[in-house]
Amino acid sequence: MHLGNYLGAVKNWVNMQEYPDTERYYCVVDLHSLTTNYVSDKDSKDQIESQEQTLKTAANLIACGVDPKKSNLFIQSHVPAHSELSWILMCMTPMSWLNSMIQYKEKRKKEDSTSVALLNYPCLMAADIILYQPSMVPVGDDQRQHLELTKLLIQRINALSGLELRVPDVIKSEHQRVMSLKNASNKMSKSDRSIRSRISLIDDPEMIKEKIRRAKTDSLGSITYDPNRKELYNLLNIYASVKDIPASNLEDYLADDNMFSFKMKLADGLIDKICPIGERYQALLQEEDRLLEILEQGAKGANLKADKTLATIRKGLKM
Ligand code: ADP
Ligand code: NA
Repeated sequence: MHLGNYLGAVKNWVNMQEYPDTERYYCVVDLHSLTTNYVSDKDSKDQIESQEQTLKTAANLIACGVDPKKSNLFIQSHVPAHSELSWILMCMTPMSWLNSMIQYKEKRKKEDSTSVALLNYPCLMAADIILYQPSMVPVGDDQRQHLELTKLLIQRINALSGLELRVPDVIKSEHQRVMSLKNASNKMSKSDRSIRSRISLIDDPEMIKEKIRRAKTDSLGSITYDPNRKELYNLLNIYASVKDIPASNLEDYLADDNMFSFKMKLADGLIDKICPIGERYQALLQEEDRLLEILEQGAKGANLKADKTLATIRKGLKM
């Protein structure tokens, strides 16, 4: 996981655990990760997201503060209803809705090396949501279009079945988009080939310093909070998030800084925030049995809820 996942999504998940009278379902989407892994005979084995990778992501979430006592934390493929509902949703989805998805357009390659699953991905994501009948979905701004599709699909199920499935609100995080450190026009992403484009949650202090020192900026020396200076703007937004200070106060806060001294402050702030997560993560990986037990419990709770919703939908559709 990277800083974009943390500031754009997981930090919010952790904060939501304090909402009273609510239940939470958080999952590691191992099925989603398959969409790009098997499409060619030539896909190398190390590209294949292993069970180990899935466990590591779960450990990362716990290290970030997702508390299995407060939330159902589980692995997507441990709850078969996700696959079944996604098929039903695919049958309700016109091709044109999926063809226009920005994330698909960004990720697809030539037709021969793009899986059908990559196109269908938003239907699986809609299933991930609909099964839990949530009132709120906390995701980053990059998922807005997929959420819109989810709403359309809920309306379609309701129209076809007479059910009244709830249309959830999207809860946006304060920090909607963390951009790449190399190219501030792209979001920070694990699919970016350059590892210098992102801060990983397991980076050590030296790596963080090095990545921030080399992060692309413009040649104006002063620090101004200006969306037109998009590289600096991105770094300032990251700084505001990790230090929990309002972006509007940044210029005052950094009035005496130049690009270099600001970058050092940013690196220190990131080290304070990120490195303890990395340490908790490494410790958890030493306790694999405990991790598996947590995920088994999480799947139990999730299966109960998901099977119930799926049965309701099947009945409503007279399947
Ligand atoms: P990636 O783009 O690296 O593959 P995912 O698609 O797995 O990341 O995203 C997981 C979660 O993290 C989503 O809720 C998404 O909104 C959020 N997220 C991912 N990248 C960013 C980013 N750069 N800025 C803000 N949120 C992000
Ligand atoms: Na993504």
